[in-house]
Amino acid sequence: MIPTLEWTSEGVRFLDQTRLPLEEIYVLATSYNDVATIIRDMIVRGAPAIGVSAAMGVALGVSRSQATSVETFQPEFNTICDVLAATRPTAVNLFWAIERMRQRFAELATQSGITMEKISDALTQEAQQMYGEDIAACKAMGAHGAELMPKSGTVLTHCNAGALATCGYGTALGVIRAAVERGHAINVFADETRPYLQGARLTAWELLHDNIPTTVLCDNMAASLMRQGNIQAVIVGADRIAANGDVANKIGTYGVAVLAREHGIPFYVAAPWSTIDLATATGDGIPIEQRPAREVTHFNDKQLTPNGAGIENPAFDVTPSKYVTAIITERGVLRAPYDQAMHNMLAEPASVSSN
Ligand code: MRU
Repeated sequence: MIPTLEWTSEGVRFLDQTRLPLEEIYVLATSYNDVATIIRDMIVRGAPAIGVSAAMGVALGVSRSQATSVETFQPEFNTICDVLAATRPTAVNLFWAIERMRQRFAELATQSGITMEKISDALTQEAQQMYGEDIAACKAMGAHGAELMPKSGTVLTHCNAGALATCGYGTALGVIRAAVERGHAINVFADETRPYLQGARLTAWELLHDNIPTTVLCDNMAASLMRQGNIQAVIVGADRIAANGDVANKIGTYGVAVLAREHGIPFYVAAPWSTIDLATATGDGIPIEQRPAREVTHFNDKQLTPNGAGIENPAFDVTPSKYVTAIITERGVLRAPYDQAMHNMLAEPASVSSN
């Protein structure tokens, strides 16, 4: 499995996604500030991977603290969580993971005679458990979603919702992997995904790594290929799903969803429950990260646009739920009306655990 991130005795090790596909280089975070920088600079990216990275960042911060008592450590713990939470605003998995670490810390802090060492061990264990749960959730999404993929044909994806965006296997690419493992003959069209090129650099790299045939498309090619009948399904990941099923995902996803509807092609979203934000009623309430203009004006050090040109760089857009054929989660497949479907599924006992 592609080692996107990993807890080690020296710190948290990340595959540097800014260097792919040409170089496989690892960076080691030895402090929570390092982890925050690594998330902000997109050395690690993708909603589930960001969440687990932040949890590991919290555990790392606790393990490196010089505090001798839980009471004196509390303000430092708050700072660790706040610094990590301030890295990227859209993927709700980040806030979900930090909240889970805060709750675990609060539980531990009430235990009489608890030591910093025990808290550190327990929080490290919690972060590692989240890592295992994420892989299990991806595998379960694969199992639920595989049969929705064509037995034979081409599936379009946008951005990277694969092993590189999770702790392994992937969400949207996990569903594709699971379908291929079950004998489906699938070709993948990977939108290049300007400006950060997650599709061209990362999706193509990881699918070819698994011998899944992949063709890179420029972002403006999907319409024409759909019209020619060359795309049988679309599947993407998500950074945040509102209570009504509106989906925030990489900029450009909305356009692909509208095109899919126009051409009668199913548009699927694969995401774990940690991406569902029931506290946000609709997509209008989802904060959209604005990234630096330089990601658009330059490619590496080469300038692409004239000085003085105005630049927009929203990292995500929102696809209204009416364009979403189904949302594939680790608990099962949701279909509209999504608010009702989410409540019904939440009422069922969860069957996914880490192992
Ligand atoms: O800016 P990124 O690369 O973090 O954006 C990633 C995406 O939009 C993914 O599609 C999403 O996080 C789902 S990853 C399983």
